[in-house]
Amino acid sequence: MVIHMIKGVIFDLDGVLVSTDELHYKAWKRLAKEIGISDFKREDNEKQRGVSRMESLQIVLDKGNKSYTEEEKEEFAERKNNYYKEMLKELDGSAVLPGALETVKLLKEKGIMTAVGSASKNAPDILEKIGLLTYMDKISSGLDTTRSKPDPEVFLVAADKLGLPPQDCLVIEDSAAGVQAAKAAGMKALGVGPYYFSLGADYEAENLAVSINWESILNEV
Ligand code: BG6
Ligand code: MG
Repeated sequence: MVIHMIKGVIFDLDGVLVSTDELHYKAWKRLAKEIGISDFKREDNEKQRGVSRMESLQIVLDKGNKSYTEEEKEEFAERKNNYYKEMLKELDGSAVLPGALETVKLLKEKGIMTAVGSASKNAPDILEKIGLLTYMDKISSGLDTTRSKPDPEVFLVAADKLGLPPQDCLVIEDSAAGVQAAKAAGMKALGVGPYYFSLGADYEAENLAVSINWESILNEV
C-alpha cells in the first residue's frame, strides 16, 4: 500500500477564504450599468470566478454589442478596481468565510504548509485586512503571474515558493477554472462554495465549516 502525503495546501482567496466574490460582483455591476449594460446578472458573475481582471471585464463587455479600444478597456478595469477597493476599505475579519480560519489553523497544527494561490492583484492587501496574512507561509497572486487560471502558473508559483513539488500540494478552489488549473499543475483539488458539486474537483465540500475527512485527503492511499 502506497501512501502519498500532502505537505502543502494552497488556498484560492476570493470565495474560499473571504467573501469578496460578492464585492467583485457589485463593482462589476456598477461599471456595467454605467456603460449601458443593465442586464449583468449573478450568473454572468459566476463565470468571472477565478479569472483575471481583464478577462472578467470581457465577460461584462460580451453582454453588450459595442467594441472598445484597449485604452477604454484599461479605463473600465481601473474604474471597477477603484469601486472594488472602495468597498475593501470596510473589509475586516468578519468577511472571513465560515470554517476558513479554523481550517488554516488545523492544517498548521498538522504541520502542513499553507499558501494562497489567487488571480487577484489585491490578494496581499485583502489577507492583511482580514487577519490571515500571518497564517500563510507564502502568497502567489496576480502580481506574480501573467497567465490566468485555468493555466496552472499561479499554483506552480505557490508550490515553488513553498519549496514543494506540485504533487505534494492540494488546492482548495471555488471555481471551475481554478480546479482545472490545479489539475494542470498536477495537484489534487478540493472544491467548495455554491457550485462545489459541479467543479470537477477530486474532493467536494459545501464550505470549509462542514466536516471534512482531512486524514484521508492528506494521506491519500
Ligand atoms: C479572482 C476573482 O480571485 O481575482 C476574480 O475570483 C477576479 O473574480 C480576479 O477577477 C482578479 O482580481 P483583482 O482583485 O486583481 O481585480
Ligand atoms: Mg475564487
